[in-house]
Amino acid sequence: MKDRFGRKIEYLRLSVTDRCNLRCIYCMAEDGVCKLRHGDILSIEELTEIAAASYDLGIRKIRLTGGEPLVRKGILPLCRNIKAIDPAIELDMTTNGSLLSECAQELKEAGVDRLNISLDTLDPDTYRSITRCGEIGRVLEGIKAAGSAGFAHTKINTVLIGGVNDNDIFDIMRLAKDSDVSVRFIELMPMHITACWDKSRFVTAEVVERHLRSTDLVGFDGVARLYRPQGFVGTVGIISPLSQSFCDRCNKIRVTPDGKLKPCLHSDEEIDLRGLHGEALKEAISQGIQNKPMCHHLNEATSTGTRSMNEIGG
Ligand code: 5AD
Ligand code: SF4
Repeated sequence: MKDRFGRKIEYLRLSVTDRCNLRCIYCMAEDGVCKLRHGDILSIEELTEIAAASYDLGIRKIRLTGGEPLVRKGILPLCRNIKAIDPAIELDMTTNGSLLSECAQELKEAGVDRLNISLDTLDPDTYRSITRCGEIGRVLEGIKAAGSAGFAHTKINTVLIGGVNDNDIFDIMRLAKDSDVSVRFIELMPMHITACWDKSRFVTAEVVERHLRSTDLVGFDGVARLYRPQGFVGTVGIISPLSQSFCDRCNKIRVTPDGKLKPCLHSDEEIDLRGLHGEALKEAISQGIQNKPMCHHLNEATSTGTRSMNEIGG
């Protein structure tokens, strides 16, 4: 289905919980107050219904996000339900990787096609200070487990934070040297918690390009520009929502854990899907697609959003 600017909307990001076992400084408050109560969260049946209605409207790729999707009860049945709609749906998941070593195999068997793993540094101390409580060893084990379970083309997402991990770029990049992963550097976006952060923390992805000096662009993957440095098995990607925004190519919609359709990550506009079924549900999603704004205005002002990232899923 196309929106009113002619963009073909094929990608749904479904946030299955606002809870997380980490507390990343740019995403969640330290005490991690869970705003949503159990009853506010969409059930596995409701999530499945939304996936099926979206499929009927032309969605062909679904990404499960959070919070951390692996803390959500029923995540495996949900994956199986989505694949049962049509095995050809591309089913992906964005995870912090820390619980992956225990369940990579089960995720593969439940039909998950690809994983994005968030990892902002390779330094154990920096990792702990970014995530407030995470242990990097568990994520590295998770990445390994994903490979052993048969996941290919895994993506590692690194959010750049000036003065925190911008010296780690070279080390992180090397994760793609000997294995088939795509390491993608993402510009930190000023929204919710980060809206009032000092300018120095928002480094542009140009700092990554400096590391890639003589490397040719090898293509695009969604919103990422991909490079393959010499001798690398995997690729290095750059996602720059601020310095080179990609709204004109945006093909996605989002659903929050409490069932609100967000046509754009950076807009407060939400359509409540809760309680809707069948044609009424499809009509509401279709309206959201129609109403997708043309672009964000992050460069002029910070995002007006009142939801934190753990409630939207990036
Ligand atoms: N800017 C950019 N990326 C962010 N993420 C969370 N908050 C921000 C932000 N303010 C990323 C996480 C994760 C994904 C879900 O979104 O690091 O990779
Ligand atoms: Fe959890 Fe991801 Fe937010 Fe970190 S960025 S607190 S891992 S949801």
